[in-house]
Amino acid sequence: MARLALESYTSTIRDAIRARRTVFRFDPGEVPRDVLMEILAAGTHSPNHHLTEPWRFTVVGPEMKRVLGQRYREIQAEKCAPGTAAVHVDAAAEKGWVKWMSKPTVVFVSCVLDGDAQQRREDTASVSCAMLNMQLAGCELNVGMQWSTGPITREASTYDLLGIDAEREYIVGLCYMGYPAEVGTSTRRPVGEVTRWTD
Ligand SMILES: Cc1cc2nc3c(=O)[nH]c(=O)nc-3n(C[C@H](O)[C@H](O)[C@H](O)COP(=O)(O)O)c2cc1C
Repeated sequence: MARLALESYTSTIRDAIRARRTVFRFDPGEVPRDVLMEILAAGTHSPNHHLTEPWRFTVVGPEMKRVLGQRYREIQAEKCAPGTAAVHVDAAAEKGWVKWMSKPTVVFVSCVLDGDAQQRREDTASVSCAMLNMQLAGCELNVGMQWSTGPITREASTYDLLGIDAEREYIVGLCYMGYPAEVGTSTRRPVGEVTRWTD
């Protein structure tokens, strides 16, 4: 295959990698199912040692969204410092509910727990790659995403509600998705600062 001069490296892949941003605010309206399936399929095309295909996707339906939203609401209230006035606790809870319900599409992404510790590390790495590939596919489809590892992803009750056996699967995160209402900015240190070269 012909080598590409760096000056010519202005492809959509380069642009997508650099333009990809976590999206926190969405327009109303779920991601259509066919678009969502294309995004999840992008996740499944991630590198994966021994092709264990460890990713599992749990797409939250409207009923489950409300049930989980109630728990999300409680979590926000529980984050208030002891002694916080009830009116402020209620406000925090309500803010949490509104925030949760503002996420048009919610997908839990989990990793099958199989094999030894090395396989589990590698499988988790593959699922992380899947999360990124999903975001990159989303860039082109104009679907924004936020990877979240908030408390609701770690609670036993969440596993129970979603029917995920914590002995067999680990929730790597949830992916909030939708058409962006706002895209923020984010910067990185120059790569030279995080690179070491050996003799
Ligand atoms: C493993 C992982 C967990 C994350 N969990 C959260 C989270 O719980 N809440 C949140 O606001 N963002 C979360 N993020 C998104 C990061 O905040 C985001 O990637 C970071 O702000 C950099 O912004 P960028 O993605 O636009 O470059 C997570 C990202 C990763 C990779």
